[in-house]
Formats: sequence, structure tokens, C-alpha cells
Amino acid sequence: AHCVIGCQASLATNYMETSAVADLDWENLGFGLVQTDFMYIAKCGPDGNFSKGEMVPFGPIELSPSAGVLNYGQGLFEGLKAYRKTDGSILLFRPEENAIRMRDGAERMCMPAPTLEQFVDAVKQTVLANKRWVPPTGKGSLYIRPLLMGSGAVLGLAPAPEYTFMIFVSPVGNYFKEGLAPINLIIEDNFHRAAPGGTGGVKTIGNYASVLKAQRIAKEKGYSDVLYLDAVHNKYLEEVSSCNIFIVKVEERLVSVDELLEADEVFCTGTAVVVSPVGSITYLGERVEYGKQGVGVVSQQLYTSLTSLQMGHVEDCMGWTVEL
Ligand code: COI
Repeated sequence: AHCVIGCQASLATNYMETSAVADLDWENLGFGLVQTDFMYIAKCGPDGNFSKGEMVPFGPIELSPSAGVLNYGQGLFEGLKAYRKTDGSILLFRPEENAIRMRDGAERMCMPAPTLEQFVDAVKQTVLANKRWVPPTGKGSLYIRPLLMGSGAVLGLAPAPEYTFMIFVSPVGNYFKEGLAPINLIIEDNFHRAAPGGTGGVKTIGNYASVLKAQRIAKEKGYSDVLYLDAVHNKYLEEVSSCNIFIVKVEERLVSVDELLEADEVFCTGTAVVVSPVGSITYLGERVEYGKQGVGVVSQQLYTSLTSLQMGHVEDCMGWTVEL
């Protein structure tokens, strides 16, 4: 399989304010925000060290209109999931990898980062404080959204003097309404996601704002999402707004859009989307269809292997899950 580097973005399409877990329809969760009980917050001043951090009720935060994140987009986000096992216990999937990615992104965005230990500990605390919102096994997961932002006031273009590290959570189901049924993508070749020397390689918030227009145009035409081509040649596959893309082939190298159109099977991956088979891709007005028999063999195998591991249904020989 050839992996094309990816970041993800999307609009949260619905907002559900709920105070009672009993009101939740676990069968139809989707990917809208469900307000939970607590969020984690820690601050870092000019000394570069984050405060111990505390759990506070979920709610609005106060920011100066001059905050670095609001004016110059100095911010990063992360995403990971907690799953409930059949015995009721809760599993995290590779949280340290998210901590490492936030640390690396912070370096690119001139921000201090929480230590890997503080990040993982904060994730655990936030999940445990909101334990009642982790869906029953097989009904979805608790999406965990860590944020790191320049919360200090600036006016001229410069790194902020203060940073906030926060985590909130929301129970989620399928990202795409299609679930595991194939999705339809379009290549909008007038829009690009990343450019050499830019910030495409880190999970900064601006990468996501910049694709909202392409995503909106695609949705208005009835597509699930947009597949972007590279900014230099307008030819090699990069990623989808909200997830990575994989083409089922045997070589690892750049894949051009012409080859993509000849693939046997295509699927997207991401924390939010998990594994999502692609049913068609439209490029320059031409629609190419994949997997007329439904979900492809590789997509199905990967989906089953990954989610069985995340839900603790199979033994974790890789040491990837963390039990709370
Ligand atoms: C991810 O799954 O990695 C994302 O960033 C998804 C997010 C855009 C909702």
C-alpha cells in the first residue's frame, strides 16, 4: 500500500448541547459536538513551563481580542479516541504519538509544548473525568481534542507571550454519514492544501481553515470530501480535507493522479474517519468508480483489524493501547 501524507479538516456540522447521558442516541452519534462535563486547561508563561493543569467544567474560555491564536493563527490541534471494552474498561490508542506530533508542531509554530508525560497524563485525566460519555462498546468512541494556542496578547507579528494547552472531549460515531459504505471524492485542482516550505506537515489550525471553501463547494455538489493534488506539479496525490488517502498498490512512491484513476481499491484513513472506502473520484469532470461490489477487501480487513484492536477485542501485540 502506498501512503500519502495527510492532515485532516472538516466542519462540525451539528452541535448538540446535552447534560444527561441518558438523552444521547448512541446509535446515531455522528461527528457533531456533544458537550461533556469537564475540560483540562494548563497555561505557560514566558518561562516556557506549563502549569500543573486542572480539570474545570466544560465551557467558554476567556481570550484577549489580541491573542496570538486569533490574530495570527498560532495554534495546533490533536485528535485521538478512547474506546470502551466489553468489560467496561477504557482503552486509549497510542496517545504518546499524539504528544510527539504536538511537540513537533509546536516547534514549527514557535510555541512551547507540554512534555509527553504531561500530555498523556492530561488525556487520561480528561477521559476519566468524562468517563460516563465514553460510548458503550461498538457504539462509537470518545473523541479527544487537545489544543495548544498562543493565548497571550500580541499586536505586531510575533510569538505570543503566553500559551494555553487544553483538552475537551465528545462522544462520536461515524465521521462520514456513509459509515463504512464507500464515499465519493472530487479532486478540486484549483485548491491546494500544502506547499513546500509551508506548514502542511504539522497539525496547525490554519491548514484546516484554508480548505473550508473547497470542501463547501464539493459538498454543495454532493461529494463527501475533496482530494488535493500537490501544489508544484498539480499531479501527485496529497490528502483529503479530513483524512489521509491510501491506494491499494504494491509500491511505495509518489502516485500521480493518472495512476489513481486506475487503482483497484482506494480508501481514506484518519483518527476521525477510521477507515473509509472511496466509491468514486471525480477529476476534470470525469467520474471513476471503485469497488462496485461494496467495501473493498483491504479496506474491510484494515477497518476490522484496527477497530478490534482499539476496542480490545483482540490481543494487542504491538503495545499500542493504554488501559485506563
Ligand atoms: C483527524 O482525524 O486526524 C482529523 O484531524 C479530523 C478532524 C478534521 C475532524
